[in-house]
Amino acid sequence: MSLSDLQSEIRALLHERNAILLAHYYQREEVQEIADILGDSLALSIEAARTNADVIVFAGVHFMAESASIISPDKTVLLPHLGAGCPLADKITPVSLAEARKKYPDAAVVTYINSSAEIKAHSDICCTSANAVKVVNSLTDARQILMIPDGNLARYTARFTDKEIIPWEGYCPFHHFVLPEEVARAKAEHPGALFIAHPECNEAVVAMADFVGSTSAMIEFCRKTDVREIIVGTEIGIMTPLKKQNPEKIFISPSESLVCQTMKLITLENILASLKTMTPVIKVPEAIRIPAKRALDRMLAVR
Ligand code: 13P
Repeated sequence: MSLSDLQSEIRALLHERNAILLAHYYQREEVQEIADILGDSLALSIEAARTNADVIVFAGVHFMAESASIISPDKTVLLPHLGAGCPLADKITPVSLAEARKKYPDAAVVTYINSSAEIKAHSDICCTSANAVKVVNSLTDARQILMIPDGNLARYTARFTDKEIIPWEGYCPFHHFVLPEEVARAKAEHPGALFIAHPECNEAVVAMADFVGSTSAMIEFCRKTDVREIIVGTEIGIMTPLKKQNPEKIFISPSESLVCQTMKLITLENILASLKTMTPVIKVPEAIRIPAKRALDRMLAVR
């Protein structure tokens, strides 16, 4: 079947099942093309809370589908490939978090949305890369913040708060291993280009950036700038909306590291199969869902 036949069949089945397709910017181009909502982690969580659909098909990774299930327990949440995990989310376990809580008994735990439902359940509040600074500064009673599991996001956030940030030493292997030398090479090859980075990049790379932000903030920045050449320090899936929205601009990836293999496991074929069979379903047990929802709701209330 051709890509466009697959796309048409998916759209028809989405309609038939009163289903909505949510896709992250790191998804394959042909998946992004047929999404009802394309967005960053924060926008997709907000949409999962707001939709009237009966079924949410998540073109993203496991923690994103879990978050949808936590927020909307009455909806059927489908993740078309169960292997689509997040290596960053796997960098912390409930046992290691419990130990850290003992070590820092006064610290509030701010948990990046790239984490398992169980970790969220043991957290005070969640954040995404789009709202991390706001979330941390909203905790007026906390002086010390344990930020898990992304150390790079924690160190970046620390620049915008007076609170003491204790970073967890987790990282996204795709962002973290972009090298300053690679960015320097891209800059040398494209003099005059701007460099923009996701806060999951390592500190040395973030220090080289003209702009740092979440995927949606990076997209907005690229739309607004008059500079024609931009080196993009995040996963290459973002090139799809960037090129579409800015056909006159040139976007350069600085590193071969920036391909999230698990995001790419979602394909038109498995989305179609998932809608036909209504599997695999992501369902978070109530004992975890309720405390995890508290942490997500607290985040969604931060404006
Ligand atoms: P955003 O929230 O910026 O879309 O980032 C999600 C993510 O998983 C980054 O690796």
